[in-house]
Amino acid sequence: MWNEVSGDKNRMGAILANMVDGVVALDANGEVNLANRAAESIFHVPPGGLEGKVFANLVKSCEVLHTVQEVLSIGREIYTEIELSAHALFRLHMVPIFGSGKEVQGAVAVLHDITDARRFDQMRSEFVANVSHELRTPLTAINGFVETLLDGALEDKLLCRRFLTIIDKETNRLARLIDDLLSLSAIESKERLLTLKPICIVRSIRQVINILGPQASEKRLHLELISEPDLPPVNADEDLVGQVLINLIDNAIKYTTCEGKIVIRVQKQGDRVVTTITDTGPGISEDDRMRLFERFYRVDKARSRELGGTGLGLAIVKHIVESHGGEVFVDSEVGRGSTFGFSLWAVYPD
Ligand SMILES: Nc1ncnc2c1ncn2[C@@H]1O[C@H](COP(=O)(O)OP(=O)(O)OP(=O)(O)O)[C@@H](O)[C@H]1O
Ligand SMILES: [Mg+2]
Repeated sequence: MWNEVSGDKNRMGAILANMVDGVVALDANGEVNLANRAAESIFHVPPGGLEGKVFANLVKSCEVLHTVQEVLSIGREIYTEIELSAHALFRLHMVPIFGSGKEVQGAVAVLHDITDARRFDQMRSEFVANVSHELRTPLTAINGFVETLLDGALEDKLLCRRFLTIIDKETNRLARLIDDLLSLSAIESKERLLTLKPICIVRSIRQVINILGPQASEKRLHLELISEPDLPPVNADEDLVGQVLINLIDNAIKYTTCEGKIVIRVQKQGDRVVTTITDTGPGISEDDRMRLFERFYRVDKARSRELGGTGLGLAIVKHIVESHGGEVFVDSEVGRGSTFGFSLWAVYPD
């Protein structure tokens, strides 16, 4: 019998010690008489550091003081949210412990970290707001021009052609935005399985240069490809790597002024193959560089829109490269140019 009780106690002790949530037991005065390791680390105290402390003082919030009083005096079970430091948010669940005469003898508080969940919620609502805004802009333009056409501009052949060209451009943009969003979500949700095989990155770059070449020639840009001899192939999904290269080279062409220079370099670095794209464009400040790979982030929103951009290109690049276990990076100096790059794992013959 005694063995059974002590076995249960040990098991309970082990469960408490290994719980991710903080658990604190309080006596009738609101003082801590037991706390698990998670609770101690939430309050940044050494083992045993919470015992004897008044719980409401630890949290330093009038609301929690109220909550503890309510639980201990009325015996009510309470859920609330508390902020312990600048960005640490917890859900506090407090349950009274009753004695045999139904009097409140103390309480148990469980602290569950909801910081990440809240941040995720916030990101999601920002994302929805961004998407709605991006969809509304071309729709408003289309709507405006269709109304003007219906109001009579239809009779004027020249105006009609001009407005229809704008409507065509905005419709294409809407379609591109939706395509980009779908491919981003497919990569993110791992719905799009990677078809990995050894590919020659230089060959992929040449294919992309063939596609984007006319845009570069139009701006009289000097395009150079420098690659090390005997480069190993990389283990990658050919279509997706093509998309990474298109997005990065398209940016370099789009943001570099006429007669500028773009150099694409491929080098071996240890077990990886690193591709960099250097341009003589406007460069990107450090503050902007930190946020560049976020969805919809654009340094110059008006200019990017005018160039037909959706602000999703670099977010897609980052997702694709990271889903291959590689890394993306950017280096830049305002007024001199930028270098975007990514690494992929090399394949060596056995
Ligand atoms: N090579 C570059 N030089 C200067 N600025 C750049 C360069 N590449 C990207 N940027 C900046 O980063 C922003 C984000 O790029 P991203 O490719 O994600 O979007 P976008 O080019 O605006 O639109 P999309 O690629 O979806 O058509 C751009 O709007 C631009 O301000
Ligand atoms: Mg882009």
